Amino acid sequence: MRKKILAANWKMNLSAADAQEWITNFSEANRLYAELEYRLYAPSIYIQQLTDRKAIHVGAQNVHSMDLGAFTGEISIPQLKSIGAQSVLIGHSERRTIFNETDALLLGKVEACCRNSFSFIFCCGENEDLRNVGEHLHLIREQLSGLLGQMKPEQLELLTIAYEPIWAIGTGQNADTHQITEVHAFIRSMLMEFFGEQGRNVPILYGGSVNAENAESIFSCPEVNGGLIGGASLNATHFLQLASFLQ
Ligand code: PGA
Repeated sequence: MRKKILAANWKMNLSAADAQEWITNFSEANRLYAELEYRLYAPSIYIQQLTDRKAIHVGAQNVHSMDLGAFTGEISIPQLKSIGAQSVLIGHSERRTIFNETDALLLGKVEACCRNSFSFIFCCGENEDLRNVGEHLHLIREQLSGLLGQMKPEQLELLTIAYEPIWAIGTGQNADTHQITEVHAFIRSMLMEFFGEQGRNVPILYGGSVNAENAESIFSCPEVNGGLIGGASLNATHFLQLASFLQ
């Protein structure tokens, strides 16, 4: 059965002490929905202190495509694995736009995940200009066809896709249920075009200004299998509250 995922993306927020407080609050909270997979994408320097608690799936926000070598400042998948990290975000719009990560570079990271059997969330999503001229599905196809063309059916269990419209990230302006339903159905149809029935098993998350006020309507859209949460994940209690809408 396809799992549901509630993933926190801290971005470059919180101190080491804040991280410790978050994981303590999360560990001690009463988590009602055992079938839900909770994930935490933390700054890499905090991963080990978080994985030590064994309370939640912990992943990295970025990774290099090579396994080792002279790449000052970078971190590899084998290194992440050695401190207990379980997955990584690839292609977040902030990596694409602020750090100029191209589709080709991202596919190198996907290849590294597949080579190392490391799970990943591949993010896609249009900017406001493309949305306004109705070109958003075209862009999603462009962002996903390289990924899906590259992956083998037996690697599909490593993949989760997150739809995150750039104009909705950190803006307080979430996509509406029609927009989310349209894009998630499109992503599911692409998965099935490339992988047939197996494409049904890949979780598709929505991200972009999800909070306690809008989570119920967003998570009830068809083909929304979870959320990637930025701002509303910085407090463990607020993050956990969102789980009640993802049954
Ligand atoms: P947001 O961020 O919830 O703060 O909009 C989501 C994300 O960028 O993953």
